[in-house]
Amino acid sequence: MLEVKNLTKIYDDGTIALNDVSFEVADGEFLIIIGLSGSGKSTLLRCINRLIDPTEGQILWDGVDITAAEQTELREIRRQIGMIFQHFNLVKRSPVLTNVLAGRLGYVNPWSSLLHRFPDEDRKMALAALERVGIADQAYKRADELSGGQQQRVGIARALMQQPRMILADEPVASLDPVLAHSILEQLEKLNQEEEITIMCSLHYLDLVQQYATRVIGLRDGEIVYRGTREEIRAMTDEEFKEIYGKEAVRVGVGLQGGA
Ligand SMILES: Nc1ncnc2c1ncn2[C@@H]1O[C@H](COP(=O)(O)OP(=O)(O)O)[C@@H](O)[C@H]1O
Ligand SMILES: [Mg+2]
Repeated sequence: MLEVKNLTKIYDDGTIALNDVSFEVADGEFLIIIGLSGSGKSTLLRCINRLIDPTEGQILWDGVDITAAEQTELREIRRQIGMIFQHFNLVKRSPVLTNVLAGRLGYVNPWSSLLHRFPDEDRKMALAALERVGIADQAYKRADELSGGQQQRVGIARALMQQPRMILADEPVASLDPVLAHSILEQLEKLNQEEEITIMCSLHYLDLVQQYATRVIGLRDGEIVYRGTREEIRAMTDEEFKEIYGKEAVRVGVGLQGGA
């Protein structure tokens, strides 16, 4: 379980990106964070795996304070929390398989990772991860030969190499067309439901939020302005969404629940 307590992040230039944010994420949830650009979504996700240091507050992972964790402990916590990104963050010129293997770097000895030598076991694991996301047949292509949707699947496979208990996804479908957006979220939903990997994901399309979230948090100017359950978010109208979100509801247009 993840507990975020009174989290505040003030950047060096004085920007208050998060202001006293508190919430919990139970194991097995698919929590979606909504909020306009600049509302603090990325800052929040990045504080959780300590890509950035919070200014104040605590983040507890199974009771262990991530914000106070020392190197060894932090490495162990980070291993349990995978991350995927809007722009996939792949090494474009490297083969898909190498990109997936990079997810294992926390595990192999630094010298072998430097030389890009991975044990056969890791290669098998990487192929299995690609199999799980449905693109095992792309393993030996260069990453930039793949479509956007396939590249995000590589990003997910790379995260799976850590055998994470939780995946943080920062606008994972913002660069994808509607059909691919659904396919990636279905993939995350499958990992969530079948492998009980907790998902925490930022998104900004109402129909996607309604379809996949088990719980929703709305951020505005670094503060939580909305908390909703699965039922509440499914009953939400465009008008209510607009109130929280601060502008017109955006639908991707192929909503399977009739989003026009
Ligand atoms: N490195 C940084 N230095 C200063 N301000 C930043 C930095 N990163 C983000 N911000 C600011 O913090 C606020 C929250 O940004 P961000 O977390 O990226 O929001 P979101 O992901 O919701 O778009 C914004 O005002 C943004 O301009
Ligand atoms: Mg962002």
